[in-house]
Amino acid sequence: SYGQTGTLNISTDSKTTISKHIYGQFAEHLGHGIYGGFWVDKTLPVKKQDRIRLDIVDALKKIKIPNLRWPGGCFADEYHWRDGIGPAAERPRMVNTNWGGITEDNSFGTHEFLELCDLLGCEPYIAGNVGSGTVDEMSKWIEYLNSNSTSTVVQLRKKNGHPAPYKVTFWGVGNESWGCGGNMTPEYYTDLFKRYASFAKDYPGAKLNKIASGPNADDYHWTEVCMKNISSGMMSGLSLHYYTIPTGNWGKKGSATNFSEKEYFGTMVNCLKMEELVTKHSAIMDKYDPEKKVALVVDEWGVWTDPEPGTNPGFLYQQNSLRDALIAGTTLNIFNNHSDRVKMAALAQTINVLQALILTDKEKMVLTPTYHIFDMYKVHQDAKYLPIKLSVPDYEVDGKKIEAVNASASQDASGKVHISLVNLDPHNTITITTGLSDIKWQTVSGQVLTSANLTDVNTFKDANKIHLTAFNGAKKDGDKLVVSLPAKSVVTLELK
Ligand code: AHR
Repeated sequence: SYGQTGTLNISTDSKTTISKHIYGQFAEHLGHGIYGGFWVDKTLPVKKQDRIRLDIVDALKKIKIPNLRWPGGCFADEYHWRDGIGPAAERPRMVNTNWGGITEDNSFGTHEFLELCDLLGCEPYIAGNVGSGTVDEMSKWIEYLNSNSTSTVVQLRKKNGHPAPYKVTFWGVGNESWGCGGNMTPEYYTDLFKRYASFAKDYPGAKLNKIASGPNADDYHWTEVCMKNISSGMMSGLSLHYYTIPTGNWGKKGSATNFSEKEYFGTMVNCLKMEELVTKHSAIMDKYDPEKKVALVVDEWGVWTDPEPGTNPGFLYQQNSLRDALIAGTTLNIFNNHSDRVKMAALAQTINVLQALILTDKEKMVLTPTYHIFDMYKVHQDAKYLPIKLSVPDYEVDGKKIEAVNASASQDASGKVHISLVNLDPHNTITITTGLSDIKWQTVSGQVLTSANLTDVNTFKDANKIHLTAFNGAKKDGDKLVVSLPAKSVVTLELK
């Protein structure tokens, strides 16, 4: 329809950089995320290095993934790193109790993960085992990875084929310690954090960024206790986990591909809750850490639906629709706009699990709509954050309202300005007039992601149904930029 308008003002008054690490990814030993995802059978007819799929590596390099979190998730707190080194045939087998009860053969371990990160050109982010491990086990893992001494454990790394220290710096001290990571109280966890962190040593060239297991969604008490009990010298990040559940009901989350407009609306309400969570956790962190030394690390986020019918429910395999692309664009806008505190994040979970970037079926592979959002938004990585003011119409369903448009903006090192806009309204084009008083620019170009239906997906038969196209709906009008945002779309503009 016709006539919906809004305004967007962008200022250059900021000293904040949007950390590239906001665009991070998460890969757990879960379903076909690692096994049958990144790490495939020797006989699979695809290009590989060892058993790592190189078509996946190439696709992820294109969107510049900055970090990869591993080995979990819940799996991290039952993982014993020594099981995953040395000759593959001799590695012990274990049961993956969290995810389908399958047998884990440990063929993908520390060296394989770091080989993968090296191929991807990304930083490894390892979550250590607090729940069922020991202080010594974690401490020795770090020594194994990062030390160049002549100690026995370092000799073992050299024997296993890696003479030089790996210099892993992002270190999670447990995962969801309030839940699968040990069902702890925050008081107990913070004591444990300090104990584990005391023996998680820095080695030359590898000063650790220790990330505490932070709150579940709106558990503000957890954040309060962590910030009160752990000094900023000991912890460089506090994690936050929040998933968008379409129905809001963990027992019956809602379908990935078959949902009504009403359910879509509710899903977006739940997605937008991230704004409130980040704001409120940040406010607590500000009280204890006004200089913002401790990062809020949203290292698990994304939409979590019912599993794809006919698949193992323990594998969390779900399709990925245009709706999910709108979730990704909206969430990344929230993170960009809070980049003074949110300095790292990880989408759950990269390949074949939850809100994946890539789905595979044997040798076939599909880039999901969410992948394309990360492709479009990569221009914001390490760019200067530009504060925005947005005034937009509401999108209303059954008397409930949300703002129809959300946005974020940044300026890269070469001076180009990038603006990402999401129109959540599935019916109306919205024309946004933008005031850019202190930005000099001559031309605008852009890309758009949209499709006929919110439920549209890319499949192995129709892999390019949803893809990026050039966007021609933005015009220069004197000093102003006028953008005609299609219904249910994500647009990123480049001004230069
Ligand atoms: O991402 C799936 C699971 O969700 C993770 O293992 C856990 O940390 C969270 O509960």
